[in-house]
Amino acid sequence: MNFHTRKWVKPEDLNPNGTLFGGSLLRWIDEEAAIYAIVQLGNQRVVTKYISEINFVSASRQGDIIELGITATEFGRTSITLTCEVRNKITRKSILTVDKLVFVNLGEDGLPAPHGRTQIRYIKDQFGTEDQA
Ligand SMILES: CC(C)(COP(=O)(O)OP(=O)(O)OC[C@H]1O[C@@H](n2cnc3c(N)ncnc32)[C@H](O)[C@@H]1OP(=O)(O)O)[C@@H](O)C(=O)NCCC(=O)NCCS
Repeated sequence: MNFHTRKWVKPEDLNPNGTLFGGSLLRWIDEEAAIYAIVQLGNQRVVTKYISEINFVSASRQGDIIELGITATEFGRTSITLTCEVRNKITRKSILTVDKLVFVNLGEDGLPAPHGRTQIRYIKDQFGTEDQA
């Protein structure tokens, strides 16, 4: 799993308990996962279809640097299934896991459309490095 995106937990991201607000984290995850799906499927028209159980494993606090990891676990006909982990960048302690996020590839008519992809595309295939695209 590649941890592409880092976030710095700021005062505006906190809940009344003084820890990272779950809604802020879910917003970051949905955006990160959407970008991942767009890049993997080569199409800007993808929508979130389904998000499975979310496990808030441990709290994050103001000033923490966290990182979001996403990887594809399944390529369907019109969908792509991803899995996600968020962890503390410095300690590597797990903060959250999401088993499944399903995104659907849409055509110009807004309906599900086959994406034709069957496996993860790596940047090395395009630019010669090991990172996932
Ligand atoms: C996404 C949407 C167009 C799909 O329509 P649909 O009629 O459910 O489409 P289908 O039944 O053809 O399913 C499309 C794909 O999603 C998968 N899917 C549908 N329901 C699912 C569910 N509950 N869990 C997991 N996958 C699901 C199907 O298996 C199919 O994948 P496949 O082609 O790879 O096998 C429609 O549900 C929708 O517009 N939802 C709202 C999306 C949205 O607004 N998201 C939030 C903002 S981004």
